[in-house]
Amino acid sequence: MGFYMPTKVLYGKDVVLKNRELIQSLGERFLIVTGKSSKKNGSLDDVLDVLDGKHVTVYDETPENPPTTVVEEIAKMFTDVDVVVGVGGGSPMDTAKAVAVLLENPSLTAQDLYDTGKYTRAKPIICVPTTAGTGSEVTQYSVLILNGRKRGFSHECIFPKIAFVDYKYTLTASEELTLSTALDALSHAVEGFISLRATPFSDVLAVESVKLIKEFLPKVLNDPENEFYRERLMFASTLAGMVIAQTGTTIAHALGYSLTTEKNVKHGLATAVFLPFELKVANNEKSKFINELFDGSIMNFYEQVGVKLPVAFSDEEIETWANIVLSASHLKVTPGEYTLERIKEAYEFVRSNFCF
Ligand SMILES: [Fe+2]
Repeated sequence: MGFYMPTKVLYGKDVVLKNRELIQSLGERFLIVTGKSSKKNGSLDDVLDVLDGKHVTVYDETPENPPTTVVEEIAKMFTDVDVVVGVGGGSPMDTAKAVAVLLENPSLTAQDLYDTGKYTRAKPIICVPTTAGTGSEVTQYSVLILNGRKRGFSHECIFPKIAFVDYKYTLTASEELTLSTALDALSHAVEGFISLRATPFSDVLAVESVKLIKEFLPKVLNDPENEFYRERLMFASTLAGMVIAQTGTTIAHALGYSLTTEKNVKHGLATAVFLPFELKVANNEKSKFINELFDGSIMNFYEQVGVKLPVAFSDEEIETWANIVLSASHLKVTPGEYTLERIKEAYEFVRSNFCF
């Protein structure tokens, strides 16, 4: 049993602007990897401000659910880099991590990222999350699309060197983004809590994170510009990231990946809808504890915050997706037995309870 999370976490309002000297001391040539929303929420301006005087290049075309081809493209485009800065949600941060590996190891292809014996180092990574959900700023994971499927790789060298966590970037997030990203954090906390790799250290963080999301997600949805509520949700998200840095995710994440790649469902929503089923199969003290936190059933909470899945899927699709999940590594750390039939049941459960 242990705890390992080597990222320096700097937390609070204006935390980027307050650490100008620290950021400047990290190198001379910075590559910022981001998407389009960082211009609107103020995060890109803050990062550019503190990098004034340095050599800065910006890649701002990161798509949602980035494919490995984009990572390769960026690594070829910008070769002269000391530090890679990921600014945004999970997609830019995970892309930044992968790019940092390829820049440090130019002979590798993006496919090699998944062969983690092939490298030991990456360029230093800084993360500035702008959503309260992914937790990627404190993890050793990067999830990309490889050959049409969502696949993560894990390596200690991609733990960010520093995470600058400022809730103010989430103040302008839409209701849909706020809900789906918070559900991602909830999935991390719940999956990490019931994971067979959970430890007493990760459990403390997981329980706190679940309680915070239960209390503050409904409040944020009712009052989206309330800074205190937004801060509590951001805190919960970073805690949940620290949880999965210890435990990894479990079957709800594996089940959700196909809904994202095939039906365009946002990642957090796609995973969270499987949690009730995962808790039912686990059927142990921990799963009961989680349901108790939600006054008997996590479904009560989903009703309260309005969890719905606006897609349809067929029996054939379920068959295909279930076969993919059957070989996922997540099964080894998920409590309960998962046969092909039971995995199909999970999709059927989601179809009858959340789809309309
Ligand atoms: Fe996730």
